[in-house]
Amino acid sequence: MRTAICPGSFDPVTKGHLDIIGRAARLFERVIVVVVVNAEKSPSFTVEERADMIRRATAELGNVEVETFSGLLMDYARHVGATAVVKGLRAVTDFEYEFQMALINKKLNPTVDTLFLTTSAEYMYLSSSIVKQVASFGGNIDDFVPEQIAEEVKQRLCAKQ
Ligand code: PNS
Repeated sequence: MRTAICPGSFDPVTKGHLDIIGRAARLFERVIVVVVVNAEKSPSFTVEERADMIRRATAELGNVEVETFSGLLMDYARHVGATAVVKGLRAVTDFEYEFQMALINKKLNPTVDTLFLTTSAEYMYLSSSIVKQVASFGGNIDDFVPEQIAEEVKQRLCAKQ
């Protein structure tokens, strides 16, 4: 069975992430969304909260699983037998960092390829940090995050509530 992993911080998951996960799920028999612990970031949601939000948002995708992980992504890929990492690419600004990660990961585990899916045009501008900024000022985030998690994100981040 062809397994791909979709790694990220997902703090929180956006409609842009969901679009990439859904498209990966059409390309691979099994997709594991991995919420990776990143000690260099100060997230707004715990890894378990983030994983739970993604589980709710992907409940209708039968071949998608959601896990959390701390460590080297390529060790995780080996552990689950994944042959690909699927990531979304929004703009040229994403490219340098993503390209570096793809090359390092290839060096660490040559059996795994990184596939970049071009973001859908309507999500080009979206990022978790932009969503958090809008939510913190009480702005409407319904177009930005899956409906299953919108209320939770608003409750947590909107200082006005
Ligand atoms: O959503 P993000 O924060 O851009 O995702 C980055 C992530 C989690 C995919 C990346 O930081 C990662 O793979 N971390 C695990 C540690 C690792 O394997 N590092 C070596 C490759 S850079």
